[in-house]
Amino acid sequence: MKSDLVGVVTGAGSGLGRAAAELLLERGAHVAGWDISGGGLGWLSGRERTLTAVVDVTNPAQVAAAAEEVRGAWGRVDFLVNSAGIFVLGSLADVEAADVRRLFDINVTGTTLVTQALLPDLIEVRGAVVNLSSTVALKASVSNAHYAASKAAVAQLTRCWALELAPHGVRVNAIAPGPTNTPLFATAGMDSAATETFLAQRASTIPLGRTGEPAEVAKWITRFIDDEWVTGHVLPVDGGTSIS
Ligand SMILES: NC(=O)c1ccc[n+]([C@@H]2O[C@H](COP(=O)([O-])OP(=O)(O)OC[C@H]3O[C@@H](n4cnc5c(N)ncnc54)[C@H](O)[C@@H]3O)[C@@H](O)[C@H]2O)c1
Repeated sequence: MKSDLVGVVTGAGSGLGRAAAELLLERGAHVAGWDISGGGLGWLSGRERTLTAVVDVTNPAQVAAAAEEVRGAWGRVDFLVNSAGIFVLGSLADVEAADVRRLFDINVTGTTLVTQALLPDLIEVRGAVVNLSSTVALKASVSNAHYAASKAAVAQLTRCWALELAPHGVRVNAIAPGPTNTPLFATAGMDSAATETFLAQRASTIPLGRTGEPAEVAKWITRFIDDEWVTGHVLPVDGGTSIS
């Protein structure tokens, strides 16, 4: 990866955002980690070439203030990784309206607000955006339809923004991970036994026979940041789930 890149990773306090931020730092980037959970950002604070901000991605004022902090500190933004997101398990029969709204608010509106706030910076340097979609956006599954729909929205935003921003040289791509071992499911309220059963059940349907690790997703995120002639892709990183 080019050295000295500067960028923002949302959801950097946990899971895939954290793994991406770790790898980007390892490769010499300056990383601003944003997360709604201040505690989650503890691993990042005080490290060289980092900024941290407690940001709710659905709150435009917080997003604008954090963007301004990055500009003030480093003067540019080369990449944005939109990893902040939530998962909700629920069938059509029992899903609650509040959960549907929360899913779309964080996964879709949040992704939009952060990208919009950093757009002038990204245009200025012909930067890169990497969104987090999901394999369930590409393939139907039961018990998480609204989560899947929010991730399908992220996939389509990725393609549309890629077209919209291509004249500015800004690339927009997404990763569609399969089930990956992160706290996403625990945060959704599943206890460890339920998470284990859920992931084991999912693993049994994955052609390569296992769930993924965050580092396996992070390396494709950095690849999309680095590559200057790929845009509009939604790349499954899923052990073959999407082709099965
Ligand atoms: N883990 C998987 O199996 C998997 C699969 C496909 C897609 N994804 C997607 O990858 C992304 C990262 O998920 P993860 O597995 O790392 O989950 P995670 O729960 O480990 O991390 C998500 C992070 O987002 C933060 N966050 C949640 N709401 C926020 C908000 N309003 N503002 C700012 N930060 C907020 C959380 O505090 C957390 O630190 C999500 O968008 C998720 O949908 C995950």
